[in-house]
Order: sequence, then C-alpha cells, then structure tokens
Amino acid sequence: MSGVNEIRKTFLDYFQKEGHAAVASGPLVPRNDPTLMFTSAGMVQFKNLFTGLERRDYSTATTAQKCLRAGGKHNDLDNVGYTARHHTFFEMLGNFSFGDYFKERAIELAWNLVTKHFDLPKDRLLVTVYIDDDEAHALWKKIAGFSDDRIIRIASSDNFWAAGDTGPCGPCSEIFFDQGDKLAGGPPGSPDEDGDRFLEFWNLVFMQYDQVEPGERRPLPRPSIDTGMGLERISAILQGVPSNYDTDLFRALIAASVEATGVPAEGDARASHRVIADHLRAASFLVAEGVLPSNEGRGYVLRRIMRRAMRHAQLLGAADPLMWRLVPALTREMGAAYPELVRGEALITETLELEEKRFRSTLARGLGLLEEAASDLASGDSLSGETAFKLHDTYGFPLDLTQDALRARGVSVDVEGFNAAMARQKAEARAAWSGSGEAATEAVWFPIRDRVGPTEFLGYGAESADGSVVALVRDGAEVAALEAGQSGFLIANQTPFYAESGGQVGDTGTLAAPGVEVVVSDAQKKLGDLFVHAVEVRKGKVSVGDGLTFTVDHGRRRLVRGNHSATHLLHEALRLTLGDHVAQKGSLVAPDRLRFDFSHTKPIADAELERIEAIANGIVLQNDPVATRVMGIDEARASGARALFGEKYGDEVRVVAMGRAGDGKPYSIELCGGTHVGATGEIGPITIVGESGVAAGVRRLEALTGEAARLHLESQNARVADLAALLKTPEADLVARVEALVEERKKIERELVEARKKLAMGGGGAGAVDAVRDVGGIKLFARAVEGIEMKDLKGLVDEAKKSIGSGVAAIVGVTSEGKAGVVVGVTPDLTQRFNAVELVRAASAALGGSGGGGRPDMAQAGGPDGDKANDALDAVAARLAAA
Ligand code: ALA
Repeated sequence: MSGVNEIRKTFLDYFQKEGHAAVASGPLVPRNDPTLMFTSAGMVQFKNLFTGLERRDYSTATTAQKCLRAGGKHNDLDNVGYTARHHTFFEMLGNFSFGDYFKERAIELAWNLVTKHFDLPKDRLLVTVYIDDDEAHALWKKIAGFSDDRIIRIASSDNFWAAGDTGPCGPCSEIFFDQGDKLAGGPPGSPDEDGDRFLEFWNLVFMQYDQVEPGERRPLPRPSIDTGMGLERISAILQGVPSNYDTDLFRALIAASVEATGVPAEGDARASHRVIADHLRAASFLVAEGVLPSNEGRGYVLRRIMRRAMRHAQLLGAADPLMWRLVPALTREMGAAYPELVRGEALITETLELEEKRFRSTLARGLGLLEEAASDLASGDSLSGETAFKLHDTYGFPLDLTQDALRARGVSVDVEGFNAAMARQKAEARAAWSGSGEAATEAVWFPIRDRVGPTEFLGYGAESADGSVVALVRDGAEVAALEAGQSGFLIANQTPFYAESGGQVGDTGTLAAPGVEVVVSDAQKKLGDLFVHAVEVRKGKVSVGDGLTFTVDHGRRRLVRGNHSATHLLHEALRLTLGDHVAQKGSLVAPDRLRFDFSHTKPIADAELERIEAIANGIVLQNDPVATRVMGIDEARASGARALFGEKYGDEVRVVAMGRAGDGKPYSIELCGGTHVGATGEIGPITIVGESGVAAGVRRLEALTGEAARLHLESQNARVADLAALLKTPEADLVARVEALVEERKKIERELVEARKKLAMGGGGAGAVDAVRDVGGIKLFARAVEGIEMKDLKGLVDEAKKSIGSGVAAIVGVTSEGKAGVVVGVTPDLTQRFNAVELVRAASAALGGSGGGGRPDMAQAGGPDGDKANDALDAVAARLAAA
C-alpha cells in the first residue's frame, strides 16, 4: 500500500500529465488576503486568478497546499486528537482551472484518478451535487455511470463552497467513500449521515460567482474549477485504516513521541500522542514561515497550539521538554516535500524547546491552582472566568488549554467572565499608559494601539503582502478616510514595511487597490510595536477597513539589507583590529551608505583601516548563508551574541549570525531585528570612505557597499587616470612623481623668498643707499616691501642694521591681503637714546593698529592699513627727529 508521500506524488504527477502546472504550496500565512489568518484551502493563493484580477502564464494548476484551521472561521482545535479526522495542520491536494475547463472535464479527471490510479472500487463510491445542479447530476451519470441513488442532491451550504464571506465561490460536488457496514452511519443527506461509514474525501467546486459583499454575488468572468482532497483522508482510505492518525506518516510521528516518552499509544495516552503529532506539524510549519509564539494574533494561535501539545506531553509524564526532540522525525517524513522544514530545522527546534521550557516553569503551579479551583466542581459545573483569566495571565494557560484540562471531568469554563476579566485588564493597562510622559506628545497612538493591537510584521519573508487598514491619522487626529491629495498616517493589521529601528531606516514603497494609489515615504514604530506608515494618497480614497496590497520598494530594501549586513561585518572587524573595547554607540543603515559610531579613543591608522576592510570583504567572499535564529535573551548572550549595552530586549530575540571564523564558529553574532542579505556575497564590495571623531571617545566609520562602493572606486580610478594624464606619468609612478613635485615646489618657494629679500634690500648686493635717510644726524633705513612674511622682516632689519653700522632700521611689510607688519631695529650704540618699542608703536598707529612689542633693540607691530606704509615710515622719522 502506498505511503502518504507517494499518494501526494501520484496526485500531482497525474494532473501534471494532464497539462496542469505544478505549483508549490503557498505560505500558511497568506500574502494576498488580509482577511484570512491562515491559508485554509488550496485556492487561497489563486484567489485573484479566479476573479480575473491577476493573470499568470498557466490556466490550469495542481498543488499540495499546507493548510491550517485553528482560530478564525475554521477552528478545529478543541476536537483535534479526540477524533479520527480533525487536524490543525493538513495538506489539501487540488487541481484548478482558471477559466479553462469546467464541470465536465473536472468530473472526468476526478473519476479517472480515483478509479484508475487510486483503484477505488466504483461500487464503494458516491457523490453529492448541489440541489439544482442538473448539469453536474447528468455529467456524473454519464461519466461514472452512477444510478440516481448514488448522486445525491443536497440543498445545504455543505454543497456551496466559499473561502470566506467574500471572494470566489460556487456550487460543489463531493465524493464519498463507503467504508462498509461495519461502521455506523448513513449516506449524505440521510438522518444518520454524521456516522463514520460514509467518508467525504474530495470536494469539486464549480467556481461561478464572486461574492463581492454579503448579499451581492456577481458571475465570475470565466467559470473555473477549484478542488480539494484531504491528503490525510485519502491516505487513510488507500491504506485501509480507520483514522488519519493510523496512516504511515502519523504512525512515524507517534512512534517518535512514544519512544521519547516511553508511554505506548494506548488508552488515554492515545489522544495525547495524537495531539502532539498533529500540533508538532502545525507548530513546525508556522515557525518555518517565521511566525513565533507571542500573546497576540497569529503568534498567539501558535502559542495555543504549542502549549496544548506541551500540556499533553506533561500528561504523558515527559520529564523534560519533548516537542523539540520530535523535529527530526517530522523532517524525515515531510522534509522532502517541504524543504522549508529542513532549512528551518534549527529555528523550529530552538523555538519549541524554548517555549516548552518557559511553559514548564509555570505549568506545575498553574495546574496546582487549577486543581484547587476545580476540586469541588462536578460534571456540568463551570470554572469561574476570573480563575481562567488568572491562569492565562500569570501562568500562560490559553483559554482552550484550561478547557481541555477540564474536559475529562465534564467541567466547562465561564468564557464570558474570562473575557470580562481580560477587558478590565486592558483598561487598566491603558490608564497606566496615559500617565507616562510620552503619552502627552504621541497621545493619538495610544487608543489605536489599545484597539488594534500590535502590527504583524511580514517583512522578513515578504516584500509584498496584503493588509487591512485598521486606522488612519491626519493632523494628529484619527480619521475615517484619506482622500486623493491628502497625507497622513496609515496603520494596518499586517505589513511587509520595516519600521525604522536599530539604525535601519523605514521602508518606502506603495499601497494599491483597484483605482487606489498610495505612496509610502516612511515607516516608523510607535509604542514599540505599532507600525505607522507615512502616506500620501495619489489616487482614489483609502478608508478604514479597506484591503490594500503593500509593496516595499524592493531595490531600496535590497540596498538597505546589504548595508545592514555590512555593518555587522565591519563591527566585528573593528573589534578584531582595535580590541574588545569597541562597542556600538550609534548606527545608520540607509540605502546609499552606512555609518557606524563606536567607542575608541584615537584616530584609526590607515593600516588598521585597510585591515578592517580586508577582514570584512573576506567574509563577503565566503558567501555563506546568513543564519537568523530566535532564542531566549539569556541563551543569546551565552552564545556570545553582541547586544547593545543598556538596550531593552524582549524575552525572545532574533540572533543574526554571519560568516565563518577560523575556528569554524560564526564570525559575527548579533542580536538584531533588522533585515539582512541571504548570503554574505550579496553585499558586494565594502569600502570605507570616512573615519572621524564625533565626540570624546567615539569614532565614526562611514562605508559604502555593493554598487555604491563600485561607483565610488570607479570615480577614484578615473581621478587617478586624470592625474596620471595631467602629470604625464604612468599611474604606478604617480606617488613618486607627486613627491618630487612637492619637494621641487618647496625648493622654489625658498628661492623665491630669498629673491624677494634681495629685491627688498635693494637687490644686486650693492646696498640700499636710496633707502637710508639722515634724520638729525641719525641714519634711518626706511623701506616698505611687499610679499614678505612677518617672520622674514626681522632678518631684513638685522641685515639693514648691519649695513648702516649705526642708526635705526624700519621696514614695513605689506601682505597680499593689504595688511601691514612693521619691524623696527636700533643699533646697540643708540639703544640708550631710542627705544625700538616706542618707535614701532608710532609706526603701528599710522598703520591703523595699536600696540606692538619687543625689546629696545628690536620690536614689531602690525596694522590693518597696508596702504599707509610710507606714513608709518615717516612717523618713525618724525619720532627720531623729535627725540
Ligand atoms: N476549496 C475547496 C475546499 O476547501 C475545494 O473544500
């Protein structure tokens, strides 16, 4: 008899041979439908193909689709484990026609597969059709040769299928297998149809309508086909076993659970093993898609599923966390068909173990409380809502876990009381908020956060997804709609847009629906987990409740990812090169560049910068996948993950590991909520373009990656080529050539100074006779010169003193900006009579300056009015004359 994996393959191969495109399963968290919590049927990923909104290059398809029914419209959680057919996670096999074939071919294909490939005996099969669907009735008669009593007309909604309140829908025809009269039950439509004997295993939906809104149904552009066959059910039928849990796949999972606990799957333990096997699948597939246990939304459904299984592990007497040990059995059974299980194995294992450890730490006390509270309750009584809420709030018991625990003794829970206690707690938490300082400035976000809860971030896995608008804000107040031309803030139930945090800038992009265009210029986080999109409506109108397709600017996000991953590589390279004191002080991860501030006291030497760059680029070239895992904060710290000192982290953290160090361990491990490249090679080249100090003990590194780095290097190359051409030198000789030029220039400058001096002193070495005046018998060397620095004036005055032998020398130097400096010297024999300081002050006053200083034989001063040089010299002469 075929195993589950072969049965899946037989189905897909058959439809592929019949011309259908084999399409991979869509995700469990639907990207194209914000109204659904989880994918509940094979048609979900094709919804827009049926309505004609979207076209692809195939018009028929076949899939094995991962489905989850827990929470929301289809909630089977309570029954799972206790019945033969209920599951949270299951696989739906389907074939689809998007306006290609319709009823006749669908029935033909189904009949052929069931009777010729699955070899089910014709006399054990029967079908239903919708009450007025004469066409389907006639086709079954023709194709299967059924007599009228085997084609049962059904009037109820059982034979009219819709995924939700809106969307494509139509009448359907279900195929049943008669398991024989050893089981109780009647055919569909009969009074005892609920018995086990007649088992429905395939639903053929004749998609004909689009339920636009409740009460309004429009015909689809092209009638289509959507079918769904439960893989677990058909496997049970083909393997001749009474329950889905007896098929080979479930037997393998249950065997792993039996082995790990040492408790055989008999008596009460049988249901516990089944719960564990079922929930292991649901939890693992959800975690593989990035859903993590939390107290809200999908994460909470996951937590409920996990904890329900974990309580059953405890019922089986498992002393240590159990679920994570079963992951290898699951990957063995399903990893070939769903490679995401293999890729996510580490994450799944760690998440299960962490959750079970955490739950165990309160489980015993919670169960104690539950025992005590329920000790005097009898069958038919109910547990108070307050107690159930306390179990939920303090011990992490989801409501259905408490219900499950009391189920055996027939005790129920006061659900209304539970909800009231929950509402009261929320109100209290809200009151606590409004007192905080932040509340005053950002008051508008509090009621929104309170009402809609945290935003679910889908952006680790997707850059496009549908979301429902849950709130709009304009000019600081909530509004019901934003019209074309208006700007404001938009909050959705879920979004692929990254909201700025950890230095990484918020995503930009667009939101769209038919006739609606919205531009998102930024995304910010408010109150920790409310994602707020800054929007401008370009076309149409957006109202609260609308569904929109959120599309992140993919190219920009790709650049941001590269820069964020490069930041991690540089951080570690800095630490390796400069020492362990290097700690992050700030970071900016933008699309065009990255900036990283860190603790370090002195500038980084060029050789060190080169080394840092080389190390980081070496990890890029390794091109190993970047591993993201989620773990408890303590465990993360123990793994050596770098965290920001003083930063607040939740209980669970994302840990991002990159590259390989020499010892085989990851090169860099950091706590990080940002988005990263898939493998380090995607970063491309990393080039450091700046190193500077920003504050005492804090340095800043600036770098470029990928295309930006290449362009930067390219422009540098061009500059070098220009220089080489200009200097007519091979590029390799540029440095030596420039060094020689600099030396040459210094030499020329020195020569120039000398030449000027000579010129100033009259040139030609003959002495500056024309500069010497006689003032009352005292020789005064007086001269104004240009282009000579103050520091050189003194030398000139010394020379002048020597040349006159006895007397006074005064030289005014005028700079190119027109300012003046003046130096006055007095030969030693005259210093008793004339003071150089007094003389220079007189000169300075003429130059519009004041002061001056020096010794009696040599003093200097300055002044702003260079054009008064001659007046200054005259002032010195006048002073001499007056003495
Ligand atoms: N979409 C149909 C179902 O889920 C086939 O039953």
